[in-house]
Amino acid sequence: MAAGLEGAKSGNGAHEWGIPAYRVSSALYDRLVGEVLHELWRENFERLARRYALGLDRVADVACGTGMASLYLAQRGSRVIAVDRSEEMLRVAAARLRGRGSVLLLRQDMRHLSLPFKVQTMVCAADSLNHLLHEEDVRRAFRCFASALEAGGHLLFDVNTAYQLREGQDDREWVFRLENWRLSWRSEWEEETSSATLTMRLGQVDGRGDVWVEVHREKAYPADLLAALLEEAGFRRVEVWDAAGLGKPGARTRRLQFVALRG
Ligand SMILES: C[S@@+](CC[C@H](N)C(=O)[O-])C[C@H]1O[C@@H](n2cnc3c(N)ncnc32)[C@H](O)[C@@H]1O
Repeated sequence: MAAGLEGAKSGNGAHEWGIPAYRVSSALYDRLVGEVLHELWRENFERLARRYALGLDRVADVACGTGMASLYLAQRGSRVIAVDRSEEMLRVAAARLRGRGSVLLLRQDMRHLSLPFKVQTMVCAADSLNHLLHEEDVRRAFRCFASALEAGGHLLFDVNTAYQLREGQDDREWVFRLENWRLSWRSEWEEETSSATLTMRLGQVDGRGDVWVEVHREKAYPADLLAALLEEAGFRRVEVWDAAGLGKPGARTRRLQFVALRG
């Protein structure tokens, strides 16, 4: 068995290997969801940059994934620190950002974030914060975010709501093809822990060969709790918007956009 992998025979005889989230799907991430999420993020970012007069000389893109926001910020003139914990996502980001001297890529876990210099604005886009599965993890991450920001700097992040994760639940298994991959996808919602589990199987289109199984978990946190944790970490003037339109959030809001000022 390959190091760090869990193997099992599936019903049709193919070998299935359990691998960390994003190890294989990093190659497909942009087309799967990344490009669509980036469009929404970019539009909101520009509006928020004006609304909050964000300082953009030095910016951190935490949980940068494949680096789409980092590239956008660098092209816009910022010096960017891009951080992610997934080696494979960072590899895609490095290819995208090749030759961009203004972007520093670091492999770090956001719960232990430690940047080489303070930034004026920090972004953490596309539900990356939902990947933290315990309140204590969020508390730790917020403390690190606060330490990495200059006084008067801003933190911007967006998260999936419980409504969104619950609605996304589907008992069916979805199977589709993307490039040379055959993907199957099943999501489950657990009410007690307010968390969703997406199990993604990635195999070859012809159905032959090994199948890679990634499990992606996300937890939804109430907006009030996130606001309280931000204040505890040293943030002030925490504001929360519905990411669809940047208006007031409601019971059917799918994604919340937070903006918090580092006190
Ligand atoms: C849904 S992707 C979002 C990527 C990117 N921000 C975007 O807008 O496309 C979530 C990212 O969070 C990263 N991630 C999850 N948990 C993390 C952690 N504890 N520390 C750093 N990165 C993390 C994953 O590796 C992945 O790249």
